[in-house]
Amino acid sequence: MTAPKRSRILALGAALPDQTLTNDDLSKMVDTNDEWIHSRTGIRERRIMREDEKLSTLAADACRKAVASAGLAIGDIDLLVVCTYTPERLCPSAACEVQGELGMGTKPAFDVNAACSGFMYGLQIADSMVRAGTYRHVLVVGAEAQSRYVDYTDRGTCILFGDGAGAAVVGPAAEGEEAGILSILLGADATGNELITIRNSCPGPGMKSPYKDIPPYIRMNGREVYKFAVRAVGEVLDNVLAQANLTREQVDLLIPHQANIRIIDGAADRLGLEKDRVVVNIERYGNTAAASIPLTLEEAVSTGRLKPGMLAALVGFGGGFTFGACLIRW
Ligand code: UT7
Repeated sequence: MTAPKRSRILALGAALPDQTLTNDDLSKMVDTNDEWIHSRTGIRERRIMREDEKLSTLAADACRKAVASAGLAIGDIDLLVVCTYTPERLCPSAACEVQGELGMGTKPAFDVNAACSGFMYGLQIADSMVRAGTYRHVLVVGAEAQSRYVDYTDRGTCILFGDGAGAAVVGPAAEGEEAGILSILLGADATGNELITIRNSCPGPGMKSPYKDIPPYIRMNGREVYKFAVRAVGEVLDNVLAQANLTREQVDLLIPHQANIRIIDGAADRLGLEKDRVVVNIERYGNTAAASIPLTLEEAVSTGRLKPGMLAALVGFGGGFTFGACLIRW
């Protein structure tokens, strides 16, 4: 295969659990209320998997929709990348489980853990692989089962997180085609290592690990993450624009990681974008980590807000501390 100059997202797919957990539900579990949660975060409700649901099934559902929407068959997919920091098991990888559910034969599959920036990392892998000519079609899915790791007695975290999956098929752009992935920039800053953590849940009194006394739940320093996020989002957006020789004014639509409406509003202000140029669904889904950007992008496309020719800026940040941004000509 001749290597294409540019890759593009051929199609998207979304999957969410049916079960909804509202702010009012949470107020019966911890000392909180709808007014506090909504005013501080923008969230009203989030989707939570039932005990008998599996992350791999949710992710496979999003993948099938993306592949069908691209007019392809599962057999046309050459590589599967699952972006998740909440796999239900460490081995096999979530990707190998999804690969099996999709019936991908012996096609390669692996997980990427960059927490909420996961989809940005997965997209860069797909873009590079397609442009190198290594694979023609790469399926990237951001999928999270955060409810398996949330401490529902901790009001500082349980109000934020939800489950979901968003998938994208990345393939070659046609020769001379304007549409495609223009630029991706990733980063990680280990000084933020301790701001969001999950100890693995390996049980047993004999466990030997420096983390053995920490409960196996999401632990977060919300205030510090907030400060980190505001800085990282602004910087990575400016840098990805510079890398692509584009300016803030040229961005038509912002597709941000849905972590907190105040962080999203800050990023929009920096780009000088009015509210109608920012896609927000945090009110309904909360923070779905690596699933958040593909779910938001899918919504932007399926509702007709992201139209051919528009320049979309995707931006994410999260545990690690990781961050990333991507510019796409749709
Ligand atoms: O994808 C990346 C993942 N994480 C994030 O993006 C998180 C970024 N951070 C945030 O979104 C915000 O820091 C939070 C929403 C988590 C918290 O908002 P905040 O404005 O930073 O609140 P705070 O932690 O500074 O707490 C303010 C007050 C405290 O009470 P006192 O000490 O002022 O009396 C908290 O105890 O609010 C209290 N509080 C709550 N009250 C009602 C904290 N959580 C709650 C709650 N309900 N759920």
